[in-house]
Amino acid sequence: MTEHVKVEIDAGVMTLTLARPDKKNALSNAMYGVLADSLERAERDPEVRVVVFQGDGDSFSSGNDLKDFTAQATGSFTEERHVWRFLKALARATRPLVAAVHGQAVGVGTTMLLHCDLVFTSPDARLTVPFVNLALAPEAASSWLLPARIGHARAYAMFALGEAVDGTTAAAWGLSNAVVPLEDLRARARAAADQLAKRPLGALTVTKGLMRDAEKIAALMDKEGALFAERLQTAEAREAFMAFAERRPADFSKVA
Ligand code: COA
Repeated sequence: MTEHVKVEIDAGVMTLTLARPDKKNALSNAMYGVLADSLERAERDPEVRVVVFQGDGDSFSSGNDLKDFTAQATGSFTEERHVWRFLKALARATRPLVAAVHGQAVGVGTTMLLHCDLVFTSPDARLTVPFVNLALAPEAASSWLLPARIGHARAYAMFALGEAVDGTTAAAWGLSNAVVPLEDLRARARAAADQLAKRPLGALTVTKGLMRDAEKIAALMDKEGALFAERLQTAEAREAFMAFAERRPADFSKVA
């Protein structure tokens, strides 16, 4: 258990609160571990009928911890990596997943939403998937799920140009169910989760299973994961991570 993810279960609803606000809820390996453990538990615990994701502080999540990416790029990251377990748990989740999204939702902070069944965004939400800016590749099956949801042109601009989508636009494009004032956001997500918790779980499970091809999603995650791991080792990616650490724009012109 890490103090950076709060896990609460109440009246059939498991709430997972990202709680590393000083880093905009950047996801460390330990945080992925808790998220993966919690989703795996949700699948087998009869006390959990719905899972809600939310973030403390001014943002939902700034995505994968870039220090961990740097460590992976330089070979100094030796821990067991929990991100893949988290992504597979998202792919195979049968319980309904609900998200309350405000502020920054970068990288996996946005791609995980493509696995949620109900998403609520506040107007200040800023969804970005700047994988190309980081010299990386789309993950979490987003290379298929994002264009399927919003169309190729919009998805490409998000991936390749790093274009941001605000909370209102996210609702208009079908990335979220509704735009909700920030002060009401958590209550709205919780109310939706409470409604789901009262529905027959068997029917919810069958409905979600029919709506998503979990095996296809998991297989695509493997394909993306292999390319992503390759890209982490590139000079382009090292330049991108160094630029973030040094708070300067990346310069790819000299990278072969
Ligand atoms: N990993 C590690 N640390 C991160 C982080 C990340 N993904 N995102 C933010 N942080 C840290 C910053 O380094 C900073 O730490 P410091 O106070 O010790 O210097 C702190 O969180 C606040 O971030 P800051 O950049 O000052 O906030 P901002 O409001 O100016 O910008 C973001 C917020 C999210 C736009 C910006 O931090 C950012 O672009 N982060 C990287 C996002 C990213 O590329 N994620 C990976 C996607 S695959």
